[in-house]
Amino acid sequence: MSPTRAALAEGARVLAGTSSSARLDAELLLAQSLGVAREQLLGGVAEDLAAGEAWRPTYAQLLSRRRAGEPLAYLIGRRHFRDICLAVDPRALIPRPESELLVEWAHSLPAGARVLDLGTGSGALALAIKQERPDLDVSASDVTADALALARENALALGLTVSLMHADLLAGVGGRYDALICNPPYVATRDRAQLAPELSYEPAVALFGGEDGLAVIRRLVRELARRQDFAQVALEIGAGQAAAVGRLLSDAGYEVRACLRDLAGRERVLAAARSSGLGAGA
Ligand SMILES: C[S@@+](CC[C@H](N)C(=O)[O-])C[C@H]1O[C@@H](n2cnc3c(N)ncnc32)[C@H](O)[C@@H]1O
Repeated sequence: MSPTRAALAEGARVLAGTSSSARLDAELLLAQSLGVAREQLLGGVAEDLAAGEAWRPTYAQLLSRRRAGEPLAYLIGRRHFRDICLAVDPRALIPRPESELLVEWAHSLPAGARVLDLGTGSGALALAIKQERPDLDVSASDVTADALALARENALALGLTVSLMHADLLAGVGGRYDALICNPPYVATRDRAQLAPELSYEPAVALFGGEDGLAVIRRLVRELARRQDFAQVALEIGAGQAAAVGRLLSDAGYEVRACLRDLAGRERVLAAARSSGLGAGA
Protein backbone atom coordinates (compact mmCIF):
# COMPACT_ATOMS: atom_id res chain seq x y z
CA MET A 1 0.00 0.00 0.00
CA SER A 2 1.31 3.52 -0.81
CA PRO A 3 2.28 5.74 2.18
CA THR A 4 -0.66 8.08 1.60
CA ARG A 5 -3.21 5.26 1.35
CA ALA A 6 -1.85 3.70 4.52
CA ALA A 7 -1.94 7.07 6.31
CA LEU A 8 -5.51 7.72 5.20
CA ALA A 9 -6.67 4.29 6.32
CA GLU A 10 -5.02 4.86 9.70
CA GLY A 11 -6.50 8.37 10.00
CA ALA A 12 -10.02 7.18 9.16
CA ARG A 13 -9.65 4.43 11.77
CA VAL A 14 -8.44 6.87 14.46
CA LEU A 15 -11.28 9.30 13.80
CA ALA A 16 -14.07 6.75 13.32
CA GLY A 17 -15.43 7.23 16.83
CA THR A 18 -15.23 11.05 16.74
CA SER A 19 -16.30 12.26 13.34
CA SER A 20 -19.14 11.33 11.01
CA SER A 21 -16.82 12.26 8.13
CA ALA A 22 -13.72 10.43 9.35
CA ARG A 23 -12.29 9.63 5.90
CA LEU A 24 -12.78 13.19 4.59
CA ASP A 25 -11.27 14.61 7.78
CA ALA A 26 -8.26 12.32 7.39
CA GLU A 27 -7.82 13.42 3.77
CA LEU A 28 -7.88 17.10 4.71
CA LEU A 29 -5.53 16.64 7.67
CA LEU A 30 -3.08 14.57 5.64
CA ALA A 31 -3.12 17.13 2.82
CA GLN A 32 -2.48 19.84 5.43
CA SER A 33 0.44 17.87 6.89
CA LEU A 34 1.97 17.38 3.45
CA GLY A 35 1.35 20.99 2.42
CA VAL A 36 -0.74 20.05 -0.63
CA ALA A 37 -4.38 20.48 -1.62
CA ARG A 38 -6.75 17.54 -1.02
CA GLU A 39 -7.24 17.21 -4.79
CA GLN A 40 -3.48 16.83 -5.27
CA LEU A 41 -3.38 14.22 -2.53
CA LEU A 42 -6.18 12.22 -4.15
CA GLY A 43 -4.63 12.69 -7.58
CA GLY A 44 -1.47 10.90 -6.41
CA VAL A 45 0.72 14.02 -6.71
CA ALA A 46 1.91 13.78 -3.10
CA GLU A 47 3.42 10.28 -3.17
CA ASP A 48 6.99 11.59 -3.44
CA LEU A 49 6.46 13.94 -0.53
CA ALA A 50 4.87 11.19 1.52
CA ALA A 51 7.89 8.96 0.96
CA GLY A 52 9.77 11.17 3.46
CA GLU A 53 8.93 11.13 7.15
CA ALA A 54 8.77 14.87 7.96
CA TRP A 55 4.98 15.07 7.79
CA ARG A 56 4.27 12.21 10.17
CA PRO A 57 4.52 14.09 13.54
CA THR A 58 2.28 16.87 12.20
CA TYR A 59 -0.30 14.37 10.94
CA ALA A 60 -0.26 12.44 14.22
CA GLN A 61 -0.77 15.66 16.18
CA LEU A 62 -3.63 16.85 13.96
CA LEU A 63 -5.36 13.47 14.21
CA SER A 64 -5.03 13.53 17.95
CA ARG A 65 -6.47 17.07 18.22
CA ARG A 66 -9.33 16.11 15.92
CA ARG A 67 -10.02 12.99 17.96
CA ALA A 68 -10.17 15.19 21.08
CA GLY A 69 -12.99 17.16 19.41
CA GLU A 70 -11.24 20.22 17.93
CA PRO A 71 -13.22 21.39 14.89
CA LEU A 72 -11.74 20.45 11.53
CA ALA A 73 -12.04 24.02 10.26
CA TYR A 74 -9.78 25.30 13.05
CA LEU A 75 -7.24 22.54 12.37
CA ILE A 76 -6.97 23.29 8.67
CA GLY A 77 -7.54 27.04 9.19
CA ARG A 78 -10.20 27.63 6.58
CA ARG A 79 -13.88 27.19 5.75
CA HIS A 80 -15.73 27.63 2.48
CA PHE A 81 -18.84 29.79 2.72
CA ARG A 82 -20.91 30.51 -0.37
CA ASP A 83 -18.27 31.20 -3.06
CA ILE A 84 -15.50 32.41 -0.78
CA CYS A 85 -12.87 30.66 1.29
CA LEU A 86 -12.34 32.24 4.70
CA ALA A 87 -9.48 31.92 7.13
CA VAL A 88 -10.91 30.71 10.43
CA ASP A 89 -9.39 30.30 13.87
CA PRO A 90 -10.58 30.46 17.50
CA ARG A 91 -10.89 34.26 17.33
CA ALA A 92 -14.32 33.78 15.72
CA LEU A 93 -17.18 31.40 15.09
CA ILE A 94 -16.84 28.92 12.24
CA PRO A 95 -19.44 30.02 9.65
CA ARG A 96 -22.40 27.61 9.39
CA PRO A 97 -24.34 26.59 6.28
CA GLU A 98 -27.67 27.88 7.64
CA SER A 99 -26.23 31.40 7.79
CA GLU A 100 -26.18 31.37 3.99
CA LEU A 101 -29.93 32.11 4.28
CA LEU A 102 -28.96 35.64 5.37
CA VAL A 103 -26.79 36.07 2.28
CA GLU A 104 -29.64 34.84 0.07
CA TRP A 105 -31.96 37.33 1.75
CA ALA A 106 -29.53 40.16 0.99
CA HIS A 107 -30.14 39.55 -2.70
CA SER A 108 -33.62 41.07 -2.22
CA LEU A 109 -32.17 44.45 -1.17
CA PRO A 110 -32.43 47.39 -3.57
CA ALA A 111 -29.37 48.46 -5.56
CA GLY A 112 -26.90 50.55 -3.57
CA ALA A 113 -28.49 49.81 -0.18
CA ARG A 114 -26.37 50.41 2.94
CA VAL A 115 -26.12 47.20 4.92
CA LEU A 116 -24.66 46.46 8.36
CA ASP A 117 -23.57 42.92 9.28
CA LEU A 118 -23.65 43.16 13.07
CA GLY A 119 -21.52 40.56 14.87
CA THR A 120 -19.47 39.77 11.79
CA GLY A 121 -17.05 37.24 13.36
CA SER A 122 -14.80 36.01 10.53
CA GLY A 123 -16.55 38.46 8.19
CA ALA A 124 -18.39 35.61 6.48
CA LEU A 125 -21.75 37.30 5.87
CA ALA A 126 -20.44 40.77 5.01
CA LEU A 127 -17.80 39.42 2.65
CA ALA A 128 -20.07 36.91 0.91
CA ILE A 129 -22.69 39.65 0.44
CA LYS A 130 -20.11 42.08 -0.92
CA GLN A 131 -18.79 39.43 -3.29
CA GLU A 132 -22.28 38.56 -4.59
CA ARG A 133 -23.75 42.07 -4.50
CA PRO A 134 -20.86 44.48 -5.16
CA ASP A 135 -23.35 47.32 -5.58
CA LEU A 136 -24.27 47.20 -1.87
CA ASP A 137 -22.45 49.44 0.60
CA VAL A 138 -21.50 46.86 3.25
CA SER A 139 -20.29 47.57 6.78
CA ALA A 140 -19.57 45.05 9.50
CA SER A 141 -19.15 45.31 13.26
CA ASP A 142 -18.22 43.15 16.21
CA VAL A 143 -17.82 43.57 19.94
CA THR A 144 -14.52 41.68 19.97
CA ALA A 145 -11.35 43.15 18.53
CA ASP A 146 -10.05 39.63 17.83
CA ALA A 147 -12.95 38.79 15.52
CA LEU A 148 -12.62 42.12 13.76
CA ALA A 149 -8.92 41.48 13.15
CA LEU A 150 -9.78 38.15 11.52
CA ALA A 151 -12.53 39.78 9.44
CA ARG A 152 -10.02 42.42 8.31
CA GLU A 153 -7.52 39.74 7.30
CA ASN A 154 -10.21 37.94 5.31
CA ALA A 155 -11.35 41.14 3.59
CA LEU A 156 -7.76 41.90 2.57
CA ALA A 157 -7.10 38.36 1.35
CA LEU A 158 -10.30 38.36 -0.71
CA GLY A 159 -9.84 41.92 -1.98
CA LEU A 160 -13.32 42.91 -0.84
CA THR A 161 -14.07 46.37 0.54
CA VAL A 162 -16.15 46.35 3.71
CA SER A 163 -16.04 49.00 6.48
CA LEU A 164 -15.25 47.41 9.83
CA MET A 165 -16.28 48.83 13.19
CA HIS A 166 -15.64 47.89 16.80
CA ALA A 167 -18.99 48.30 18.55
CA ASP A 168 -21.23 46.82 21.22
CA LEU A 169 -24.46 46.28 19.23
CA LEU A 170 -25.47 49.68 17.79
CA ALA A 171 -23.70 51.86 20.38
CA GLY A 172 -21.63 54.38 18.47
CA VAL A 173 -22.67 53.04 15.07
CA GLY A 174 -23.39 56.29 13.27
CA GLY A 175 -24.78 57.01 9.83
CA ARG A 176 -27.99 55.75 8.29
CA TYR A 177 -28.41 52.18 7.18
CA ASP A 178 -31.09 50.62 5.04
CA ALA A 179 -30.74 47.10 6.35
CA LEU A 180 -29.29 45.08 9.19
CA ILE A 181 -28.31 41.46 8.96
CA CYS A 182 -27.22 39.66 12.06
CA ASN A 183 -26.38 36.19 13.20
CA PRO A 184 -26.36 36.93 16.93
CA PRO A 185 -25.29 34.64 19.75
CA TYR A 186 -28.55 32.82 20.56
CA VAL A 187 -27.64 29.57 22.33
CA ALA A 188 -29.28 29.35 25.77
CA THR A 189 -26.76 28.90 28.57
CA ARG A 190 -29.29 26.63 30.28
CA ASP A 191 -28.73 24.17 27.37
CA ARG A 192 -24.95 24.25 27.77
CA ALA A 193 -24.72 20.71 29.18
CA GLN A 194 -26.38 19.20 26.09
CA LEU A 195 -24.18 20.91 23.53
CA ALA A 196 -21.78 19.10 21.22
CA PRO A 197 -18.27 19.16 22.79
CA GLU A 198 -16.89 20.73 19.57
CA LEU A 199 -18.69 23.97 20.45
CA SER A 200 -16.43 24.46 23.46
CA TYR A 201 -13.60 25.42 21.04
CA GLU A 202 -15.53 28.41 19.68
CA PRO A 203 -15.74 31.79 21.51
CA ALA A 204 -18.49 31.87 24.13
CA VAL A 205 -19.33 35.47 23.14
CA ALA A 206 -20.22 34.18 19.67
CA LEU A 207 -22.51 31.44 20.95
CA PHE A 208 -24.35 32.30 24.13
CA GLY A 209 -27.28 34.66 24.45
CA GLY A 210 -27.92 34.41 28.19
CA GLU A 211 -30.11 31.99 30.11
CA ASP A 212 -32.83 31.70 27.42
CA GLY A 213 -30.65 32.54 24.40
CA LEU A 214 -32.52 35.78 23.67
CA ALA A 215 -30.60 38.31 25.78
CA VAL A 216 -28.54 39.78 22.92
CA ILE A 217 -31.50 39.79 20.51
CA ARG A 218 -33.66 41.59 23.12
CA ARG A 219 -31.02 44.31 23.55
CA LEU A 220 -30.50 44.63 19.81
CA VAL A 221 -34.19 44.94 19.02
CA ARG A 222 -34.58 47.59 21.75
CA GLU A 223 -31.74 49.58 20.16
CA LEU A 224 -33.26 49.20 16.69
CA ALA A 225 -36.55 50.59 17.99
CA ARG A 226 -34.82 53.81 19.05
CA ARG A 227 -33.39 54.47 15.57
CA GLN A 228 -35.05 55.86 12.52
CA ASP A 229 -33.04 53.84 9.98
CA PHE A 230 -32.72 50.08 9.40
CA ALA A 231 -35.96 49.80 7.42
CA GLN A 232 -35.22 46.12 6.95
CA VAL A 233 -33.81 43.54 9.32
CA ALA A 234 -32.88 39.88 8.93
CA LEU A 235 -31.95 37.92 12.04
CA GLU A 236 -30.73 34.38 12.35
CA ILE A 237 -32.39 32.59 15.25
CA GLY A 238 -32.16 29.27 16.99
CA ALA A 239 -34.67 26.52 16.20
CA GLY A 240 -37.79 27.19 18.30
CA GLN A 241 -37.13 30.93 18.80
CA ALA A 242 -39.24 32.27 15.89
CA ALA A 243 -42.37 33.08 17.87
CA ALA A 244 -40.53 34.86 20.71
CA VAL A 245 -38.28 36.86 18.37
CA GLY A 246 -41.24 37.70 16.12
CA ARG A 247 -42.99 39.23 19.15
CA LEU A 248 -39.92 41.25 20.08
CA LEU A 249 -39.69 42.60 16.53
CA SER A 250 -43.33 43.49 16.34
CA ASP A 251 -43.20 45.25 19.75
CA ALA A 252 -40.28 47.26 18.33
CA GLY A 253 -42.27 48.42 15.30
CA TYR A 254 -41.27 45.78 12.78
CA GLU A 255 -43.55 43.55 10.74
CA VAL A 256 -42.21 40.05 10.10
CA ARG A 257 -42.36 39.52 6.35
CA ALA A 258 -40.65 36.15 5.96
CA CYS A 259 -39.41 33.22 7.93
CA LEU A 260 -36.67 31.27 6.15
CA ARG A 261 -36.05 27.62 6.91
CA ASP A 262 -32.87 25.56 6.93
CA LEU A 263 -32.47 22.28 5.05
CA ALA A 264 -34.07 20.42 7.95
CA GLY A 265 -37.17 22.62 7.64
CA ARG A 266 -36.54 24.56 10.87
CA GLU A 267 -37.30 28.28 11.08
CA ARG A 268 -33.87 29.93 11.17
CA VAL A 269 -34.12 33.49 9.81
CA LEU A 270 -36.74 36.15 10.44
CA ALA A 271 -36.88 38.96 7.90
CA ALA A 272 -38.81 42.04 9.00
CA ALA A 273 -39.56 45.52 7.73
CA ARG A 274 -40.20 48.64 9.78
CA SER A 275 -43.95 49.24 9.97
CA SER A 276 -44.80 52.72 8.70
CA GLY A 277 -45.59 55.48 11.17
CA LEU A 278 -44.94 53.46 14.31
CA GLY A 279 -43.57 55.01 17.43
CA ALA A 280 -41.83 51.87 18.57
CA GLY A 281 -41.64 51.29 22.25
CA ALA A 282 -39.71 48.11 22.90
C1 LIG B 1 -23.02 33.68 16.05
S1 LIG B 1 -21.56 34.63 15.82
C2 LIG B 1 -21.77 35.10 14.11
C3 LIG B 1 -20.47 35.34 13.39
C4 LIG B 1 -20.64 35.52 11.87
N1 LIG B 1 -21.56 36.62 11.57
C5 LIG B 1 -21.13 34.25 11.23
O1 LIG B 1 -22.32 34.18 10.89
O2 LIG B 1 -20.32 33.32 11.05
C6 LIG B 1 -22.00 36.12 16.72
C7 LIG B 1 -21.02 37.25 16.63
O3 LIG B 1 -21.56 38.35 17.34
C8 LIG B 1 -20.54 38.97 18.09
N2 LIG B 1 -21.19 39.66 19.22
C9 LIG B 1 -21.61 39.11 20.39
N3 LIG B 1 -22.14 40.08 21.18
C10 LIG B 1 -22.06 41.24 20.48
C11 LIG B 1 -22.41 42.61 20.78
N4 LIG B 1 -22.96 42.93 21.95
N5 LIG B 1 -22.17 43.53 19.85
C12 LIG B 1 -21.58 43.21 18.64
N6 LIG B 1 -21.21 41.95 18.33
C13 LIG B 1 -21.45 40.97 19.23
C14 LIG B 1 -19.62 37.86 18.48
O4 LIG B 1 -18.33 38.34 18.81
C15 LIG B 1 -19.65 36.98 17.24
O5 LIG B 1 -18.63 37.33 16.34
